[in-house]
Amino acid sequence: MLQTLDKEARLTEEAHRLYGLLKSVSKEKGAKWTYEDCLAAAPYTLAINQFKKEQNAVVLAHSYTTPDLVYGVADYRGDSYELALKARETTADIIIFAGVWFMAETAKILNPTKKVLIPAGRAGCTLADAMSGTEMKKLRDQYPGIPALCYINSLAEVKAQCDSCVTSGNVFDIAQKIPGNELIFVPDLLMAKNLEAELQRRGTPKKIISAGGTCCVHDKYRPADVQKLRADYPEIQIIAHPECPIEVCRLCDYVGSTKGMQAYVAKSRATCFGMLTEFGLVNRLEAEYPDKKFIWPFGVCSYMKRNTLVNTLEALIDPQPEQVVEVEPAWAAAAKKSIDKMFELAQ
Ligand code: 13P
Ligand code: SF4
Repeated sequence: MLQTLDKEARLTEEAHRLYGLLKSVSKEKGAKWTYEDCLAAAPYTLAINQFKKEQNAVVLAHSYTTPDLVYGVADYRGDSYELALKARETTADIIIFAGVWFMAETAKILNPTKKVLIPAGRAGCTLADAMSGTEMKKLRDQYPGIPALCYINSLAEVKAQCDSCVTSGNVFDIAQKIPGNELIFVPDLLMAKNLEAELQRRGTPKKIISAGGTCCVHDKYRPADVQKLRADYPEIQIIAHPECPIEVCRLCDYVGSTKGMQAYVAKSRATCFGMLTEFGLVNRLEAEYPDKKFIWPFGVCSYMKRNTLVNTLEALIDPQPEQVVEVEPAWAAAAKKSIDKMFELAQ
């Protein structure tokens, strides 16, 4: 009896903790997180946090995953760059990476003695999946002597054949540091256009040679979405990720990584923001800036959303083979070199 009461009290306390963090956060269909939602999540967050302690595990969650993961169980939440850094420096025995495959793979490359688990299993990314190692090799053979950068949203076999990796937070600065007036940048065709324009704007122009694909979330935004936001909310500040088409980015007030967008909101005096990015980042801003308004037209990454409290707990208790991250040994060392080069150039 006492035990049952104690358990109930712990669940209620946890639900209150979660509700305190999530009450200003939207769910997909417009409603906000309720106390009942938090009570339903509480048994999982309690169990995951307990297992983490017992197994010396750390949870890294990308901002695009769901807010119950981001605020309920993550030890670190952030963009691709911040999470790669955390993965590299952690002393925990187990890294649970709530994100997509290329992110978890990067964690394993950077800290290979750790057990790296991804709750979502082999959750892809339309950018990373747009280019194979064979295609990268062809491109390098086609343009001998031209330096090559790869976006972190790429497979290890692509990273391994590039001079440096970059993230959305450092792509412009790193590209500017690379000598020469031609540069290969893969696998994001839209970011490549934004990169070429930004280098031109900075007075350090380069011809960008690109191949690959687009992000299935950010490639959907159109100039009409920006125009509608401005017509509906005259005071709005519109912010976008550099994976969006250049015609859209040109009309926005700020373009940057998920971390950059958060920093922009933090320092802006505006109170209304149009968000041309994935819903998870909107949720983070709603949680952290409850007095500001965030207008989000659409955009959900189904790959990121494959991470749930349930499969995070399952991965901790008894991981399925697809949740255990291994890197092709043939590529690991060279891919690490390209990621380490990014850390060096990002200084
Ligand atoms: P960030 O590094 O800006 O978080 O971007 C990752 C990503 O996948 C964007 O779609
Ligand atoms: Fe990949 Fe786009 Fe999803 Fe980011 S939002 S993980 S780029 S598919």
